[in-house]
Order: sequence, then structure tokens, then C-alpha cells
Amino acid sequence: MAEKTTLSVIKADVGSIPGHVVAPPELLEECEIELNRGLTENTINDFYITRCGDDIQLIMTHFSGEDNTDVHRLAYDAFLRATKKAKEMKLYGAGQDLLKDTFSGNVKGMGPGVAEIEFEERRSDPVIVFAADKTDPGAFSLPFYRMFVDPFCTPGLVIDPTLQEGFSLEIHDIKENRKITLDAPEDTYKILAFIGSTGRYLIKRVYRRSDGEIAASLSTEKLTHIAGKYVGKDDPVAIVRCQSGFPSVGEALEPFAFPHLVSGWMRGSHRGPFMPVSQEDARNSRLDGPPKVIALGFQINKGTLVGPEDLFSDVAYDRTREKAQEVADYIRRHGPFEPHRLGEEEMEYTTLPQILKSLESKFKKI
Ligand code: 13P
Ligand code: 13P
Ligand code: MG
Ligand code: MG
Repeated sequence: MAEKTTLSVIKADVGSIPGHVVAPPELLEECEIELNRGLTENTINDFYITRCGDDIQLIMTHFSGEDNTDVHRLAYDAFLRATKKAKEMKLYGAGQDLLKDTFSGNVKGMGPGVAEIEFEERRSDPVIVFAADKTDPGAFSLPFYRMFVDPFCTPGLVIDPTLQEGFSLEIHDIKENRKITLDAPEDTYKILAFIGSTGRYLIKRVYRRSDGEIAASLSTEKLTHIAGKYVGKDDPVAIVRCQSGFPSVGEALEPFAFPHLVSGWMRGSHRGPFMPVSQEDARNSRLDGPPKVIALGFQINKGTLVGPEDLFSDVAYDRTREKAQEVADYIRRHGPFEPHRLGEEEMEYTTLPQILKSLESKFKKI
């Protein structure tokens, strides 16, 4: 059997300027020094570093499979080095997502987000790496559903024989720490019954049903569950494989033409439109947002990354961005009211409960 290639995308927010707007180039340079060391030591085979708002994404290829200790340690070391720089520069939120200071084999559970896929390279292997800021992993539930299940988004489900058997969705219940796998198209209604609750049920992985091949992977780490309090949002990353038995590149991007409402804007406590932007435009100023997503297209060639192509720099997304601005203006007028502000349950990990608690003694029975 041919050697398998692994694509590991590991992200963290380790500091930004000013406030939570953007990770400066100095931090990406620190990460680059570490990943170059990883290349020399053959821990990884290739890499590309980018940032979406205040989050840095390490996109790495190697041949060591998912959850590899050396690869995870390398990512951890890169973020640690960048954190040191961030502290020297007195950046905001320096070391924000590095919640534990001793590495014990895997960065999962330490704060950084992880999306990985291991696969045998096809004759040609296009992938898209998505990265988002000022939102949470639930932001990908609607787009994943549309690209892998909805024929009104993905014509390939209807006209391509290699897509006819559909996809299996591995859904994680992050509240109860359990998972369920449901098959599309026949379990469509049941899938929606879960994933409509974007704060609890997440599509962790998607598999092609005809042969069980991995099609997509999402980071689902919850910062608040690790830290026990609000420390920042779990700004997610996702990997989607494309073409020849998977959605085409265009089908995987089409769901983002609708700027749906997602959680995580301003102090992680507000809903706002999910705006697809170019790498250059992924800087979050307006009320620290609105929530943004970038999409980088690569071809994987014998464990190397060819690209990226900055997919949302296409002018065809201009109208989506305009719509997102309009939705942002509209929902902003709700100020501190729901549904702009998140519901009570999701506010549990913010500083709001402290304020409510301080008034406890003033309450009288009705
Ligand atoms: P090609 O026939 O050029 O591969 O294009 C198919 C396709 O997926 C277009 O969306
Ligand atoms: P991040 O989760 O991107 O650090 O943002 C935190 C925040 O409070 C933004 O208003
Ligand atoms: Mg931040
Ligand atoms: Mg962020």
C-alpha cells in the first residue's frame, strides 16, 4: 500500500494588535522558525502559515498520521515561541490559547484547535483549508450540511455517480462528550434535528459512504470547557477534500455565498453574519468582527503543499460581503438584546453571571 499523507492544521490565538484585531507578522515569523526546524528534523514535510484575525494557523503535511506526538509538539513549540514574542511586545491576549504549560503528547485539550486528515493521495488531490475568527466550530454546521448533503448546493450529489451513495456525518455532542454517526441522504431530518443546535452538536468528521474515505474534518476544541471560564472563542479550522468523489471546489465554497448568522462576535457573546474574505481582509475591526472566514485552496503533491489560492478573494463574493454588512447593521441595532446577544445558556461562561449574582440579595419574591 502506498504511504499515506497527513494534513494537520493546528491553530491558536497567542496575541494580537490592537486588542483582538490581528496577529502581527512578528508572531508568524516566530512560528516559521520552529516549523523550519521541523522540516530539517523531518517531523513535517512541508508547511504554510497564515492568520485569520488574531488566530494563527499552522498548515503542515507529513507522513506520521493523525495525533502524532512529534507534530503536535512542534506546533506547541511554535505557539510557545510566538507567545514569548507576544509577551515581549506586550501584545494583547499574549498566550491566550495556550492554557496548559506542560506538553503531554497531544495539543488537544491544551487550548489550540486541531483538524487533521490522513489519506492515500489520489492522482490529483485538491483540498481547502478554512479558518475563521470571532466565531465557534458550530459556524461550520450549516456549510458542511449544505456541501455534503444538500443537492440544491452540490449538484454533484445528483449528477455524479461517485457521489450518489452520499456521506456519513460524525456528530459530536460536546456537552455530554459522546458521538453519533448518521448517514445522508436517508437520515437527513435526524441530522438536522441535532446540528441545528450549533452550540452543542458539531460535525467533527465527514466520510464518503462508498468506501469510508475521509472527506472533511473540523476542530471542535472548546476553550471554555478546558479553562472553565471565558478566555476567548474557539475560532475553528476545517479541512475539506475536493473533486473526484468529493464535492468540487466550487461546491465546497458555495455554502459561504450565504452569510448565515453565527455565534462569537464581540466578547464571544454576540451573533453576527459569517463574512467570507480574502487573507488580506481577515482583520476584525468592526466591533471586533464581524465573524470572518478565509478559504485556502491547495493541491497536495507527494506530501507537499502546492498553493495556496486565496479562494474568497474572488469578486463573486462581493455581494455576500455586502449582504453581510447589511445584516451586521441590522443585528447591531439590537444592542445588548437577544438574538444579537447570545442566549442565557451560552452566556454562562462569560462575565455576565457575575453581574447578575451581585444583585441576588436585592430580589424579592413575587
Ligand atoms: P472538470 O471536468 O474540469 O474536472 O470539472 C468538473 C467540475 O467539478 C467543475 O465544477
Ligand atoms: P478572540 O476569541 O478572537 O480572541 O476574541 C475575543 C473577543 O473578546 C473579541 O471581542
Ligand atoms: Mg484574541
Ligand atoms: Mg480569534
